[in-house]
Amino acid sequence: MAEIKNLQDIQNYDYSLEKIFHDAEDFLPLLGTDYVELYVGNAKQSAHYYKTAFGFQSEAYAGLETGMKDRVSYVLKQDKIRLVLTTPLKEGGPLNAHIDKHGDGVKVVALWVEDATKAFEETTKRGAKPYMEPTREEDENGWVVRSGIYTYGETVHIFVERKHYNGIFLPGYKKWDSHYNPEPVGLKFIDHMVGNVGWNEMNDWVEFYGKVMGFAQIVSFDDNDISTEYTALMSKVMSNGNGRIKFPINEPAEGKKKSQIEEYIDFYNGPGVQHIAVATNDIVATVSEMRDRGVEFLYVPETYYDDLLERVGQIDEDVELLKSHGILIDRDDEGYLLQLFTKPVVDRPTMFFEIIQRKGAQSFGKGNFKALFEAIEREQENRGTL
Ligand code: FE2
Repeated sequence: MAEIKNLQDIQNYDYSLEKIFHDAEDFLPLLGTDYVELYVGNAKQSAHYYKTAFGFQSEAYAGLETGMKDRVSYVLKQDKIRLVLTTPLKEGGPLNAHIDKHGDGVKVVALWVEDATKAFEETTKRGAKPYMEPTREEDENGWVVRSGIYTYGETVHIFVERKHYNGIFLPGYKKWDSHYNPEPVGLKFIDHMVGNVGWNEMNDWVEFYGKVMGFAQIVSFDDNDISTEYTALMSKVMSNGNGRIKFPINEPAEGKKKSQIEEYIDFYNGPGVQHIAVATNDIVATVSEMRDRGVEFLYVPETYYDDLLERVGQIDEDVELLKSHGILIDRDDEGYLLQLFTKPVVDRPTMFFEIIQRKGAQSFGKGNFKALFEAIEREQENRGTL
């Protein structure tokens, strides 16, 4: 097995998708994303938004009624995706500080593991900063072990070992029964989650995921690939061994005006999760349903579709239908993908979602970046931050 010891090793590698299964180290086997937890100002109202607009289902709840004194958490589920929305109930704690500094945003990207104690030991001995020592939590439904490490900014990974637990979510949570249950919109699982980091920090975090977590780099863009006239960024994609966890890392690059990554860093006050990409099997149905429910998507200019078939070749979908929904299309060696990005879902221009449908392609829409960033720049112009 190839060993990734330092950044030079990572950069020198020829990372094809077939190779990642060999290149990624197996000291940290990950079964999938367990949950994503956002610290928000008002979890009750955020939960209503994600149910109504995104089709998430009421799953579990913890708060005063369950013995949690200082915070409240709502767990929402759609197919394999779990969102946890948490709000502090008292002043002055770390949750308040997080929300004050960052606004609503992702605190925890939780990863499902067989052994949370080993995951903690393997990553911390390779240099990860501890966030949570391995901790056993239990109730009448069994027990879990969770542990955690810091990643970029104040974002953390929590390792969740749940093979001895049969409850609804975690010990301390009860089933959340609601009379209000909007239908799902077809979101299936988290395809990837993107982190924005500061100037010249991308390679440090690529090295972190390589060295500390045993990930391998699968795609490389440089700033020439993803620069527009006014803004630029650099991006590298890190994947774990079985390909279930993919974390693209962006850093700003010099353009004529402010990079959208820099705008994010300014408003989030540091590095953080930029977008969560969620997979669907029918992007037209998902996007039109979400739009009907009030989700705002990035505007895609009609001219984007003028040379579409020349650029991506034959596709199954009707181009006029895709155009009417503003859906982006890109192709790589293995197939094509359809994707669309929401506007930020919070008031600060920070976190947004991507809806993605893969038809063979395993890449991330490189060919769409230019079209996407031109669209984002029009939004930035409207906010006066370009
Ligand atoms: Fe993405």
